[in-house]
This record gives sequence, structure tokens and C-alpha cells, in this order.
Amino acid sequence: MVEPEVSKPLDVAAIKKDFPILEREVHGGRLVYLDSANTSQKPRAVLDAMAGYYEQTNANVHRGTYLIAEEATAALEGARAKVARFIGAGEAREVVFTKNATEALNLVAKAWGRANLAAGDAVVLTELEHHANIVPWHQLHDELGIELRWIPIGADGHLDLTDLGRLVDGAKVVSFAAMSNVLGTLLPVERLVSAAHDAGAIAVVDASQHVPHVATDVQAWGADFAAFTGHKMCGPTGIGVLWGTTEILDATPPFLTGGEMILNVTKDGFTVNELPWKFEAGTPPIAEAVGLGAAVDYLSGLGMEAVREHEVALTAYALRTLTGRFGDEIVVHGPSEPAERGGVMSFTFGDLHPHDLTQVFDEHGVCVRAGHHCAKPLMRVLGVAATARASLYVYNDEADVDALADAIGAAADFFAP
Ligand SMILES: Cc1ncc(COP(=O)(O)O)c(C=O)c1O
Repeated sequence: MVEPEVSKPLDVAAIKKDFPILEREVHGGRLVYLDSANTSQKPRAVLDAMAGYYEQTNANVHRGTYLIAEEATAALEGARAKVARFIGAGEAREVVFTKNATEALNLVAKAWGRANLAAGDAVVLTELEHHANIVPWHQLHDELGIELRWIPIGADGHLDLTDLGRLVDGAKVVSFAAMSNVLGTLLPVERLVSAAHDAGAIAVVDASQHVPHVATDVQAWGADFAAFTGHKMCGPTGIGVLWGTTEILDATPPFLTGGEMILNVTKDGFTVNELPWKFEAGTPPIAEAVGLGAAVDYLSGLGMEAVREHEVALTAYALRTLTGRFGDEIVVHGPSEPAERGGVMSFTFGDLHPHDLTQVFDEHGVCVRAGHHCAKPLMRVLGVAATARASLYVYNDEADVDALADAIGAAADFFAP
């Protein structure tokens, strides 16, 4: 279980100095980075840990008989143990390193799903899922004939759970995001997990937007699988995590195959390695694991309770500032109550195209993503083709939000008829 922390407010001015990229200039001004739901920036501690690994330790893992190879193995496995503690996993072997959250969710669908699902079996998703938690299930629909059911979005960017009992009835899988990458909505994870289990289904949590921003305890969730990605939580690209209970991971066949994941190979066949290596075919992302371990140390040093408190306060400020300044002209999608959401704000402004908006933002050094955010079914539900999405993290402050508001004002002036 994750121990509750005593939280100390974030010192954002000091945190900004931990992130070298925030010192650079763009278009003659400071870089205002508001795209952390897409990928976060990396603190010096992570960059140094990775460079230090390559400079002092680099060797392949699990096969060396010499010092640096043993150190490399210890670095990889040490990072796994840190990640396990960070998310409240029971044991380090429940943490499987993947390339990213997308690969982790594909592992669930393709390895567990192919072995356990058949024509007519139902998989329940929500309308706010990222494509990474939709497309692998679509593939199983095409391949096996499984049925997909959708929990709809209701009022204020929350799920409409009126029909939850009927939707999960007889289902084999309920798979959902813990936090929406478009609306910021925090989903009722425990309620959805219990509904899944009561119906005899497994519960899969896409925790990609949750783990970086909110203290996460996978055992308290009670889910079967959870997936997330290193690069959104101050870690490097190229590494993600699939957490699963030992029972379900033991009962899941390997996904990718080759070296590392075998115990033995003969001309007649192969036997699989123990957890978690059974799911880690080929040379793992060793330096990336070291970087992710350093990211976990960094976030733990800030305190996840403090991270969340900072983001709730800054989101409240941002919602106040944007609606106060632009009134009905701006539509910010998702829950209006900051405590019910993360710091992800998708918005439309008048009839301006989000890409036009964000192009003007760029001229002011403000980095905001425009598009469908890999959630096209949700865009259809919202009745928009795209939104602009500003997303906050530990290194953002009120001045960054003010810079966004000024950039919106500049875009409005630029495109004024
Ligand atoms: C909710 C959610 N799930 C999954 C992903 C996929 O993450 P990755 O591209 O690192 O696999 C993202 C990334 O945007 C996300 O926001």
C-alpha cells in the first residue's frame, strides 16, 4: 500500500529550475510549456541518471558475469522496485516494462484477450477512451467477434453510470481510463472495478494520466491490470508499465517472444521465464528504466499529495481566469469542479479552429496541443472535430496560465473580423 504523505506545498520557482528546457527561449521569449498531458518535460535528475548510467554502467542485463553487467541488472531491477512502491504494487514482479502505455494495453488485449475471449464476449469501454484503449479491442472485435459496449458521457464531463449494471452484465472485460486525457475527468475507479468484478469481468485501468498527477494505489483500486507510460511522469520516452496481479499475469500467455522471456528453447518448443521477464522479450529499455526510477524519486521527493494540491489550485485559477476573461466565447470541456478533474483543459474559442489558435500561441512561446487528442469517439460525442488542450504539471504556475490567457487574447485580436 502507498503510505499517505505529509504534504508541503510545491515551490514552483525552484521546480522550474530543475527542468533545463524551461530555460530556453522560443521566438524571443520564454518557453511556456502547457502540453504535459502529451508528454512531460524531464528534470535534470532524470537526464543525469540516464547519462550516468551510460557513462558508468552500460552493459546488457540478466546475462553478464562481470561487474558492470551485474550493476546494470541491479539498476534495471532497482527501477522496477521503485515503480512498484510508487503505485502500491504488492511485489516488483507485478511490474512489467513495456515500450509505452499503448504497448501495455495491447499486451492485455492481444495476450490475455486472445486467450480468454471468444465470439460474442463483451468488452465494456467508456466514450472518453484514448485510442490506445480502443483500437486493440476493435482488432479483437474483427478477429474474434467480441462485442464492444460503451459507457456514455453524462453531465459535466462525467460518465453517465445510470445503465452501468446492464452494460457490464455478462461482460468479460471492463477497461477504462482513470483520468481523461481530454476532459480531465477523474473516473470512479473503485466503483467501476467493483461493477466489473461483480459481473465476473476483469478490470483494466488505463492510468496514463493518473499516475503522473495523483497518488496511485493499484491494490486499493483492486483492478486486475493497470497501464501507464513513463514520458508523461517526468521520465523518458521508450518505457511504459503494465501492472497486473500475479494471478492474472501468471495466467496470461506471453505477448512478444524471443530472448529474455524464455526459460528454455529446444527444436521442439520453448518454456517461458518467470514474472515479470516472461513479458519482456528482447533487451529491455535499461537506461529508460533508470530514468523512470529517477522520475519516481523526483515525484516522490515533491510528494504526490502536494502535486495534486498544486494542480487542483492551478486548475481552479485557470478555469477562473479563462472564463472570467473570455466569458461565453470560450468553452472549456469537462468537469467545472477542479476537485473532480486533473489539470487538462480542452477548449474551443468562438468559431476559431484550434490549429489556428495554437499557431498564434506558438508565436508567444505557449505550447498547447490542438487536435483530436487520440480520442475521436469522444470528439464526436462533444460535437467538435478538435479542441485546443492546455495541460498543467508541477512546473507550471499562475504566470503560465496568464501567458495562455494573453495568447488567447492575441489570437482573438488577430482573427477578429
Ligand atoms: C489516457 C491515455 N492513454 C494512453 C496513452 C498512450 O500513451 P503512449 O503514447 O505513451 O503509449 C495516452 C497518451 O496520450 C493517454 O493520454
